[in-house]
Amino acid sequence: MYRILKASRLAEKIFLMEVEAPRVAKSCQPGEFVIVKMDERGERIPLTICDYNRETGTVTIVFQSVGASTERMARLQAGDAFQDFVGPLGQPSDFVKEDFQEVKSRKYLFVAGGVGTAPVYPQVKWMKNHGMDVDVIVGAKTKDLLILEKEMEEVAGQLYITTDDGSYGRKGMVTEVIRDLVENKGQHYDVCVAIGPMIMMKFVCLLTKELQLPTIVSMNPVMVDGTGMCGACRLSVGGEVKFACVDGPEFDGHLVDFDEAMKRQQIYKTEEGRAMLRQQEGETHHGGCGNCG
Ligand code: NAD
Ligand code: FES
Repeated sequence: MYRILKASRLAEKIFLMEVEAPRVAKSCQPGEFVIVKMDERGERIPLTICDYNRETGTVTIVFQSVGASTERMARLQAGDAFQDFVGPLGQPSDFVKEDFQEVKSRKYLFVAGGVGTAPVYPQVKWMKNHGMDVDVIVGAKTKDLLILEKEMEEVAGQLYITTDDGSYGRKGMVTEVIRDLVENKGQHYDVCVAIGPMIMMKFVCLLTKELQLPTIVSMNPVMVDGTGMCGACRLSVGGEVKFACVDGPEFDGHLVDFDEAMKRQQIYKTEEGRAMLRQQEGETHHGGCGNCG
């Protein structure tokens, strides 16, 4: 069992939990994810890691309650436990694996949207711990939905906050801040890392393509079972078939076919849709997640 040491509500329907998971904490890296399961019959829920502490053996997760399982999970409190907390899974962010001098020579821009702020945080923290100052844009619908502001402030070189309704920080979407920084403020970036809702990542990529700014995205939202079995996270990346949970979750955003990914995500939600995908794509749908039947 994996004990929950801390449970708090960050915003409406957004929750943070610090979990005792020493083996995961010992080896996890930014970009990777875990699969949590509340009990024997519980659904497997893939979640990107928000923070980890190798000394205390703890891992922090942040999730949005969007369905029956995550709503049940949101009711867990400090002292409760998860039956399974499996990880780290997936591939770490590229900069963890690349030549450090090369990474250090680049200017990074991180763009976080809504709940996507959680997986951006460990990446920015990694940069700070390695002596790099990076610019970070955090976008939220309203002030009340902004999460991890204080934590992000501590690790970001420069933090730009924007809300869709202007209730806090600048008014507008993250794409407007990117354009302003590059076109009006003369900022030059070598790499952009954008993590948030699919529609945000799609529009960030359309803009950064125009600005010729290489961009990494996290395709975590399309994952279902997170084990390479259900086929839900199948993507076209540069014309090749990839699976977000095995080959990602991070990919070159300029190569991802977002329209196809968003359409598949919709189709996958229904029984008929899953049956259709199973027929079209055959062996990638093994039923491992229990959703395919
Ligand atoms: P949201 O809808 O509140 O959007 C957050 C911000 O994204 C907005 O404030 C805006 O600045 C930007 N944005 C949204 N639409 C945009 C557009 N069309 N053009 C430009 N910018 C745009 O976000 P939310 O409700 O917190 O997001 C929830 C989604 O995030 C879920 O679908 C979840 O799956 C996903 N998510 C993704 C990851 C990941 O790894 N990519 C991690 C956690 C959550
Ligand atoms: Fe990747 Fe199921 S989430 S195959």
